[in-house]
Amino acid sequence: MARRPLVVGNWKMNGTLESARQLARDIAAGAGGVTAVGIVICPPHPLLGTVATEVDGSSVSLGAQTVSEFAQGAYTGETSASMLREIGCEFVIVGHSERRQLFGESSAAVAAKAQAAGAAGMVPIICVGEVLEDRQRGATIEVVTAQLGPFVANGALPSGAVIAYEPVWAIGTGETATPEQAQDVHAAIRGVLATIDPAVADATRILYGGSVKPDNARELFLMADVDGGLIGGASLKADEFLSICGATA
Ligand code: PGA
Repeated sequence: MARRPLVVGNWKMNGTLESARQLARDIAAGAGGVTAVGIVICPPHPLLGTVATEVDGSSVSLGAQTVSEFAQGAYTGETSASMLREIGCEFVIVGHSERRQLFGESSAAVAAKAQAAGAAGMVPIICVGEVLEDRQRGATIEVVTAQLGPFVANGALPSGAVIAYEPVWAIGTGETATPEQAQDVHAAIRGVLATIDPAVADATRILYGGSVKPDNARELFLMADVDGGLIGGASLKADEFLSICGATA
């Protein structure tokens, strides 16, 4: 079954109102009316409104970088899924390794965030990935399987959910998984999803992330189970990001 490729830019905690406006404008202009690949940009929360205005009516979609698992109430500093949806987000990244490692998000919390996103009508981009030590001891598949455990236990993924496989040792390091390493893990992830529902496994887009650049994107995207990318550093430059989007063709 054909899965439409997806490329997601994770801006992390970078940018100003002005630089975000310009970057979003350049990406929207460069993307033109492209439909062969889905393009999503995920600015920091305070810049979402500005970027929403810039991408409105373009083929570029808006996403956020995290969301609260709670619907509303006394959760100081948090942002609910319905707030993000209202401002124009169609996607939200959940469980990025920086959230897991620096802010202690558990796989259960990540699953709750994904459910909250789905309930508000957004598509969660659920991140999984092993640290170098896990890979060295041969535990990569075990780790990503455990990270997906709450979804398997629930017997469901939020509708249309996207998975992003990001080996932690490849994020921001300039070191990329080889296409074969990525394919092996992506196939294993699809196998885990098949235990929930084979049709869902077949339809789910699994993105690779970790030092994806214009010069290595195509070989990664050519792999059978790699359906696009989650891009950090290279998403902050419109020409590099657009070149990566073009590498899905
Ligand atoms: P990177 O980040 O492309 O800068 O390695 C990827 C990510 O953290 O999503």
